[in-house]
Amino acid sequence: MTLPCRRLLAIETSCDETAAAVVDERLCVHSSVVSSQMGLHQRFGGVVPELASRAHVERILPVIDEALRQSQTSLDQLAAIAVVTHPGLVGSLLIGLTAAKTLALVLDCPLIPVDHIEAHLYACRMHAGRDVFPAIGLVVSGGHSNLYDCAGPHEFELLGSTIDDAVGEAFDKVAAMLGLPYPGGPSIQSAAVRGDSKRFRFPRSFQKDAERLEFSFSGLKTAVLYEVAGKPPAQYDPKLLDAQFVADVAASFQEAAVDVLVTKCRQALAARARHTLLVGGGVAANSRLREQLEQASRSDRFHLVLAPLSLCTDNAAMSAIAWELLNAGHTADLDVDVTAGLVRRKKHSP
Ligand code: KG4
Ligand code: ZN
Repeated sequence: MTLPCRRLLAIETSCDETAAAVVDERLCVHSSVVSSQMGLHQRFGGVVPELASRAHVERILPVIDEALRQSQTSLDQLAAIAVVTHPGLVGSLLIGLTAAKTLALVLDCPLIPVDHIEAHLYACRMHAGRDVFPAIGLVVSGGHSNLYDCAGPHEFELLGSTIDDAVGEAFDKVAAMLGLPYPGGPSIQSAAVRGDSKRFRFPRSFQKDAERLEFSFSGLKTAVLYEVAGKPPAQYDPKLLDAQFVADVAASFQEAAVDVLVTKCRQALAARARHTLLVGGGVAANSRLREQLEQASRSDRFHLVLAPLSLCTDNAAMSAIAWELLNAGHTADLDVDVTAGLVRRKKHSP
């Protein structure tokens, strides 16, 4: 007789998505429910933390219920509760953690704290369907642009991150400058299709410094602002910008951002003598980035594992990394707290 495959419930509320998923220990996703707050934040051009927390309070229980219903899982079938505890917006993280603690207490099952960034990389492992470690990992999202050396599924060493804006944030801000809708990543990508990526040569930070595995996107963002609004920037109405000019700026900006990301991945692979690259996070959905990474993997001969589009932007299914953590004994007591900022550490220490 084969034993039933254990299931866990994962909860994700680190930013502006309220998400829950049921995933079994073979990494089969039985349900993945994401309630996006995009409509709520759109008119502000970015996430408003207090609004996000309040929306999580309203949505968390219906989202969990829906994840259990879709997966036909009852509460007593759950072997563990996984929850993202860092990094993220402190108020938002607390809503997910409170729900997770309550369930773990009532069901008397293990509580597993998950790092949101590591979960983004684990989406690549889930997609590959086999071990992908050791590897270099790039996480590119609205809040982070991080390079890791990943020795194993829960041994992530941060090699470098951005010293100012995250790349997703740069996409969002440049989109706003061009009068394109939030979130900026998808808007820039579609505007860029009609644009000339060579019309403007925007700066590419630290590209020649192979030792420096860090990013900076604020200079690129400012260069775009000068191109659009003049130097010093004058008041302008983005709605009056010429459509071809918008497309050309979008394409040239996207090309510069992608160029920097691909170059730093190549430098990290060489520095750590790794042969596999994992790429996750919202910006990993960008088609030009995916195309350029594929090309680099062919010319440099490394193995590329891109997170599937369904697991690039925030979701709870990628918290399946919790199975690895549970098996390694990384569970938490009920007094565990959230950590809003990025924790710089070598080995996993919950
Ligand atoms: O991972 P994610 O959903 O949330 C965070 O953890 O931040 O990433 C959201 C970010 C946003 O900045 C959004 O503009 C960007 O990912 N993004 C994209 C694309 N789709 C989403 N950026 C570039 N191209 C895309 N296709
Ligand atoms: Zn994310």
